Amino acid sequence: MTTCDYEPGLDGIPAAQSRISYVDGQTGQLEYRGIPITDLAQHSNFLETAFLLIWGHLPNPEDFEAFQYEVLHHRRIKYRLVDMMKCFPERGHPLDAVQAAVAALGLYHSRRAFNDPAYIRRAVVRLLAKIPTAVAAFEHIRQGNDPLRSRDDLNYTANFLYLLDEQEPDAKKAHIFDQCLILHAEHTMNASTFSARVTASTLTDPYAVVASAMGTLGGRLHGGANEEVMQMLTDIGSVENVKPYLDQQLAAGRRIMGFGHRIYKVKDPRARIMQGLAEQLSENYGCDRYYGIALALEQAMEERLGDRQIHANVEFYSGLIFRQLGFPADIFTSIFAIARVAGWLAHWKEQLDANRIYRPSQIYIGQHDQPYIPVVDR
Ligand code: ACO
Repeated sequence: MTTCDYEPGLDGIPAAQSRISYVDGQTGQLEYRGIPITDLAQHSNFLETAFLLIWGHLPNPEDFEAFQYEVLHHRRIKYRLVDMMKCFPERGHPLDAVQAAVAALGLYHSRRAFNDPAYIRRAVVRLLAKIPTAVAAFEHIRQGNDPLRSRDDLNYTANFLYLLDEQEPDAKKAHIFDQCLILHAEHTMNASTFSARVTASTLTDPYAVVASAMGTLGGRLHGGANEEVMQMLTDIGSVENVKPYLDQQLAAGRRIMGFGHRIYKVKDPRARIMQGLAEQLSENYGCDRYYGIALALEQAMEERLGDRQIHANVEFYSGLIFRQLGFPADIFTSIFAIARVAGWLAHWKEQLDANRIYRPSQIYIGQHDQPYIPVVDR
């Protein structure tokens, strides 16, 4: 291998063979198990989509009922986990708190029976069920309150909204939120999924797999972008300030959060759907001033960087929607994680089906045969 073979960021290098999702970055198409994302967002629900991603087919009604029942009955987290989160600094980032809670979950369920489908199913159910509870729990804990208990009469999505703000969730908002979860559930070989697969390939437990992926998700170039988009829209403050702000940022060589993508050369199809959801929220619950700023920014970005194939990605509108749903900005990435755990688990399972530990090579560009200099002579 020569230095010519090195691709920074592994750009274009296949890291796995996968049947889970497909993306065409030139035409802006995304499919989960061959089904267009637009159809899933319109007709499916998050738990059904998670089942599809993980087991490779849509569940029949009985299978779905059984799966939903299991997930809904595993939503509690142990009081020791809650106590552990109470010891976390209240100003710490919520994603770090949830990542730590997920890693700690493995303390309770660390048996590694990877050839037992029942073990795989239990791990899937627990992770899907408990992560939303942990996100909502830390939100209350950091405000000095005790977390709420899940309500068995509420479905997966509505219960999470209830756990966060202790109010009967609005059905339309809950449906929009569920669509957001579907749109965030999986996206081929992105950074956090790669992280999940690398960790899975060592045959560690699934809680470590998800915790490692969560750590990767948090960065501002990946799942952390939605939080920064909201900060950016707040800094811009008005439609009139969009162009001056953009000129200033681009002149300083800064990136505009929520734009650009390694794969998409057109607008991210998820961003298209999310924009429609943001519009619905504005129409039904009153126009959000940040929505107007976002539209003006997207248009200005098209004029400035559209010809370089830098367009809005999924994170551009997700922050707006999450804000309109009443979530604090610093839990946006944790919400992304609630959804993406479905994709990570699908990749965990697929990795186990044909595992070989990841062990890529490197190109050494350092020195050789250097003398060791004793500390007194340095
Ligand atoms: N704003 C301004 N310029 C940009 C942006 C942006 N958002 N994105 C890319 N560019 C420019 C880069 O400066 C670079 O220019 P150069 O060739 O003159 O140096 C060129 O486009 C290529 O950028 P790369 O960083 O090489 O592209 P890469 O594929 O490695 O990165 C990424 C993709 C990280 C998403 C990038 O577009 C970015 O930083 N976007 C902002 C952060 C963001 O929104 N992340 C969320 C992505 S979606 C997700 O993870 C779920």
